[in-house]
Amino acid sequence: MHKATVLVIDGGGRGSVLVDKYLQSPHVAKVLAIPGNDLMLSQNKKKVVIFPQIKTTDVDQIASIAKREKIDLVDVAQDDAVAVGVTDTLLKGGFKVFGPTKTAGQIEWDKAFARRFMEKFDIPTPAFKICKSEQDGIKFIKSRKESEWYVKASGLAAGKGALYAKDNSDAIEKIHEMKNFGKSGEIFLIEECLRGEEFSSFAIVDGPNFIVVGHAQDHKQVYDGNLGPNTGGMGCSSPPMVINSEMENQIKSIFQKTVEGLAKMDRPYRGILYLGGMIDVKGNVWVIEFNARWGDPEAQVIIPAIKDDFFQLASYVLNNQFNKIKIRKDNTFRIVVAATSRGYPEDYKVVIGKRIFGLDRLLDYSAPSLRHPDPELVEGKGSIKIFGAGVKISNGQYLVNGGRLFYVVGQGKNVAQARQKTYNALSLVYVEGNNLHYRTDIGFRDLERFYDL
Ligand code: AMP
Ligand code: GLY
Repeated sequence: MHKATVLVIDGGGRGSVLVDKYLQSPHVAKVLAIPGNDLMLSQNKKKVVIFPQIKTTDVDQIASIAKREKIDLVDVAQDDAVAVGVTDTLLKGGFKVFGPTKTAGQIEWDKAFARRFMEKFDIPTPAFKICKSEQDGIKFIKSRKESEWYVKASGLAAGKGALYAKDNSDAIEKIHEMKNFGKSGEIFLIEECLRGEEFSSFAIVDGPNFIVVGHAQDHKQVYDGNLGPNTGGMGCSSPPMVINSEMENQIKSIFQKTVEGLAKMDRPYRGILYLGGMIDVKGNVWVIEFNARWGDPEAQVIIPAIKDDFFQLASYVLNNQFNKIKIRKDNTFRIVVAATSRGYPEDYKVVIGKRIFGLDRLLDYSAPSLRHPDPELVEGKGSIKIFGAGVKISNGQYLVNGGRLFYVVGQGKNVAQARQKTYNALSLVYVEGNNLHYRTDIGFRDLERFYDL
């Protein structure tokens, strides 16, 4: 039997969990990752190849590696790669690509397009105004009564482009800040501020067909208690207990309108579609955003819960066999916590190059096949997973190489157990100069719900 070589376009925690999942397939021999990361490589030396010098947007280099390495399946997992059309180029080259084309992915990389799309297809969206200049925005705000707002860059901004404004004059300040986002902020949106509880849902999609794979609850602000600036996500719990079957129906209806709408607009979607939603006090679901990919760190809690062979699932999509897809999940709760450099997401330059202690032991801890060096910690063995991102390995030492360092995923039969395992494991790690930061309250809403039951 020919065993496949898979190429994953991503270098962070999401890329790491995808590499891990593809390698579990009996059909896969090897996984290449662009750019990948050092931890991914050290965890699977024989079967993983990384390309740290190549960017996820370097379309020509990606295409030439795909050709040279005779890649059987490419997973375009990263938003920038979708936005520059990596999928389109690879499809033209005859490759099998799991991930949306540039025009299907516009639902993420152009928030103005996305809001117009939602309006057109009757998808629940907050009221919005698309602005092409500061004057546009200021005129709009001055015509409105005092309120809270979100002011957002229309283009990609690494999860940092949405700014909360507590009243109209704050909104005017936030409008001035849009220029800090360069081209991404040239067009911006002013949105009504929704109130409620956020969640993210993920569906596997082929044109007008979809199956919901799972839900998670991310914690975007950098500090405990949801304080501080937004980040790409500091941690998730999954499945979120707030989503009941009635909400699941609303979520399905939103996915259905979305994939059918995209197909009608001649932008059929293939790959994973992300619905970032808000549940209001009445239990109604609203769309905050769509993304053309897995969430990071949502992927780290949802993908390990899938019992099926993910290479097989993606192959069904790519071979027009969507009807064969069934997704079975384990009935386990998971918590993922993002371990970051102190100062992230703003300024963490001084932390780059610092040593990370204890990570080697944590990696042992996560490998069920290895003898554990700390017998008293064995309780969590096998129920912890570590996914790397901004960590460099040099002469056997683990060094800080970015803002988001690595992710710890703990699993358990309930949220409290998953949380305990995750934080127990994290307590093994220390970054030189006391430079490790992580939130200590990931999953707090579900923890309250759990203890209240
Ligand atoms: P986005 O970049 O669109 O994902 O927004 C980042 C975060 O800002 C979201 O996860 C929400 O917490 C918040 N947000 C964005 N838009 C709104 C809105 N219209 N109402 C309330 N919160 C929002
Ligand atoms: N965790 C949020 C995102 O991936 O956009």
